[in-house]
Amino acid sequence: MERISISLPGKLLREFDRVLREKGYVSRSEGIRDAIRSYIMEHSHISSLPAEIAGTVSVIYDHEKSELLERLTHTQHEYSEIIQSTLHLHLDRKNCMEVIVVRGSGSRVREFVDRLKTIKGVKFAKLTTSVPEVLS
Ligand code: NI
Repeated sequence: MERISISLPGKLLREFDRVLREKGYVSRSEGIRDAIRSYIMEHSHISSLPAEIAGTVSVIYDHEKSELLERLTHTQHEYSEIIQSTLHLHLDRKNCMEVIVVRGSGSRVREFVDRLKTIKGVKFAKLTTSVPEVLS
């Protein structure tokens, strides 16, 4: 075992602890180990995407963060060949949700989702491949 120390916003930690309680964890460390395992699994699942895929990317972001909209639009234009359609929902005063329908090369799609995650103000970006096999 190795020990690490991490910094988290208080709100995120409280949310995490709430989830741990609901799931019945007795130790925070065990919860963090499991969270890291599923993070790695999710990545390896995405890394092994077939050549051609179709799916949706859900993104939640704070539209008030400066430069966010510009960067988001810029990124979507850069990947326009895989974007089929976009649905926008104004969730509340601060938060927007976008559902982006993608179709194309699995590695391009993966790259696109990774790029979205690096934009400051993006709270969540997740790819769901509904028909991974159909196009390959
Ligand atoms: Ni909005």
